[in-house]
Amino acid sequence: MMRTDPAGSRFAALWSDLAAIGRDGRRGGYSRHCFDDADLQLREWFTEQSERRGLDVEVDRNGNIWAWWGTPGPGAVVTGSHLDSVPGGGAFDGPLGVVSALLAIDELKVRGTRPAVPVAVVCFVEEEGGRFGLPCLGSRLLTGAADADVVRRLHDSDAVSMADAARRAGIDPRRVGADPDRLALIGAFLELHVEQGRLLHAADPAAAIGVGSTIVAHGRWRITVTGEGNHAGTTAVPDRRDPMIPAASAVLAARRIATAHPGAVATVGRLQPNPGGSNVIASSVQVWLDVRHGSASDTAALVDEIFAEVRIQARLEGCDVVVHRESMSDQVTLDPALGVELAEELGAPVIGTGAGHDAGVLAAVGVPAAMLFVRNPSGVSHAPGEHAETADCLAGVQALADAAGKLVDGAPG
Ligand code: HGY
Ligand code: MN
Ligand code: MN
Repeated sequence: MMRTDPAGSRFAALWSDLAAIGRDGRRGGYSRHCFDDADLQLREWFTEQSERRGLDVEVDRNGNIWAWWGTPGPGAVVTGSHLDSVPGGGAFDGPLGVVSALLAIDELKVRGTRPAVPVAVVCFVEEEGGRFGLPCLGSRLLTGAADADVVRRLHDSDAVSMADAARRAGIDPRRVGADPDRLALIGAFLELHVEQGRLLHAADPAAAIGVGSTIVAHGRWRITVTGEGNHAGTTAVPDRRDPMIPAASAVLAARRIATAHPGAVATVGRLQPNPGGSNVIASSVQVWLDVRHGSASDTAALVDEIFAEVRIQARLEGCDVVVHRESMSDQVTLDPALGVELAEELGAPVIGTGAGHDAGVLAAVGVPAAMLFVRNPSGVSHAPGEHAETADCLAGVQALADAAGKLVDGAPG
């Protein structure tokens, strides 16, 4: 058992490095957002850990960090994930994929692997979209799926633009944008991720590792309802134009309409009244809607039903409604050949996921991408309770090393 001890202690060491970074004392869990102090600390940690392993680190035009084993070149086997979190998120979503990638490199070196192709560990920027609202920002910019001018103008809830935040992180915002030459280097992309949900348990309660097959279509919309700010105590009900009423109808319609379409999910997790006084009728309310169902057209159809309900309530309340689509990703099938090969090699069940990932963004433009999921006993994610047992995390590292080891011998492309 000695062989796994070093891996176990290496995992514990890397994991404990991250434990204190970006803790959210108010919400619980972690709040680590694109280029904020916690993110900059994590980016520095990743750079240092990569250099300690003799990897050559570079930051691409979009702020994604690449740690190379071997000279960057075509057919590269790339693994990695993201370091940012949702507000009050768990410890594993993102960082587990990055830590496992570093440890898989260690494992390959312990096994004496001499890669026939370049290998890289990548940390993608703003996968959660927690600061600027566009999820998978770094991988979307890399593939050209996000428009650079639009991205530069994105801003956070403190009105800080992505361009200014990038500059603070040492990235020239004038350079962000599609990076086809870099994208062309990727022969295969492997993302290990903590499982989010219960599909792995449903497929095989004994399985510590699952292999990804599809990622459901998912989109994000910002609804702005405008009414008339007024006094909560002196404004009679008939005289009100309270934007909170249509906003509340969005919350309830999301649940009602998702329930009517089996397998669909629709969520309002964020709602911001302006000015937000407890004795004030809001003048406007912003509501963020997250909808996921089958294909992009299935999702769009659900969203239309929800908006129809909000518009009816807005008309009755004398309010205006403006809807802005922040992001939309169609359903994606991860590389079937790679997936089947991994599932057979690892004896792991194949499962879909309702969570978006950078692997999905790469797969959408034809990069052979695969995902490995590590058992999360409760399935809880995007919350402090997100968890994976160390033994399962170590099994994930071995599985990732097995998968990458097989690819670096005869990488596709
Ligand atoms: O929201 C998602 O599905 C992912 O965690 N970014
Ligand atoms: Mn996430
Ligand atoms: Mn994630």
